[in-house]
Amino acid sequence: TRVAIVFGGRSPEHGISCVSAGSVLDALDPDEFEVVPVGITRRGQWVLASGDPSQLAIQDRKLPEITSSSGAELVLRADPAAGGLMVLDPTQGPRALADVDVVFPVLHGAYGEDGTIQGMLEMADIPYVGANVFASAAAMDKEFTKKLCVAEGIPVGPYVVLRNGMTMTEEDKERLGLPVFVKPSRAGSSFGITKVDDWSQLDAAVATAREIDTKVLVEGAVVGREIECGVLEGEAGGAPEASVLAEVRMIGGHDWYDFEAKYIYADEVCEYDVPANLPERVTRQVQEYAARAFTALDCSGLARVDFFVTPELDVYLNEINTMPGFTPTSMFPRMWAASGLEYPKLVNRLIRTALR
Ligand code: DAL
Ligand code: MG
Repeated sequence: TRVAIVFGGRSPEHGISCVSAGSVLDALDPDEFEVVPVGITRRGQWVLASGDPSQLAIQDRKLPEITSSSGAELVLRADPAAGGLMVLDPTQGPRALADVDVVFPVLHGAYGEDGTIQGMLEMADIPYVGANVFASAAAMDKEFTKKLCVAEGIPVGPYVVLRNGMTMTEEDKERLGLPVFVKPSRAGSSFGITKVDDWSQLDAAVATAREIDTKVLVEGAVVGREIECGVLEGEAGGAPEASVLAEVRMIGGHDWYDFEAKYIYADEVCEYDVPANLPERVTRQVQEYAARAFTALDCSGLARVDFFVTPELDVYLNEINTMPGFTPTSMFPRMWAASGLEYPKLVNRLIRTALR
């Protein structure tokens, strides 16, 4: 099976995608898969990158990057009549890389996790791992994630949507209370997010979020624990399957699970409990909501659904990631390993599901 692993990309999560791809490449069985490692630069140029996982790791707390010198420039040809997506290396003549059977877009954020590359792959009639165009777009946008989940009876915390130019009203502020989290509606890995403890900080926080997305969400902080759940598309068309849960705990006085905590200083400021230490009833509730959210957004393949659980054990959905991180500190593969599906088996299942 010829699989294109596509990574990097135009979103601020470029470097995280590279680290995720490194782990996926490491887990692929070379006897089973012929890998075409395709990097996308921050400007959107496609190159035949190195498939060497060691070049895709965080080194000295610095994230890897795909640049135009990372490999030969590739030309893409979407040609359903000729068997799908062709990734061509023009220096080696046409069809040098021939067509691929399946694409694994290990891409996070805009132009990767938001339905855009999925649309291109649909046009080319090529199977790919993960959510379709609609589900990708809906899960990327925190406004529509909440709306679709609420419609299916899944609780979410209080929030306000600030479209371009809008600001919060006094009634909004009273309803949400402090602190609030100000977020770009479409982003990931906590990029552009500010915790606001005083309303005087609001305008600056909104401006920061708007650097990433003109639409901004202000969410009332749900005081509680960060709980995550992995979901996989059911085998042979069955119901989605939920993993054991994970809890992320901040230690050493780190305030919240921001970008630095997720990736750069994870070993110093985060502790993870997999499985999370929660009463059985709450665990089942979170797993049921996670599977329901997966279906509510019409997801396929995989998703990681993130929740808050309050001290009273009320459960609120935070967000859905249709291409969750696969880095060494990422929760999705860890939760599945703890559920009995080791990393190589997980990657294998994702590709097999895409080819079904
Ligand atoms: N957006 C990051 C990669 C995650 O959800 O894990
Ligand atoms: Mg996210």
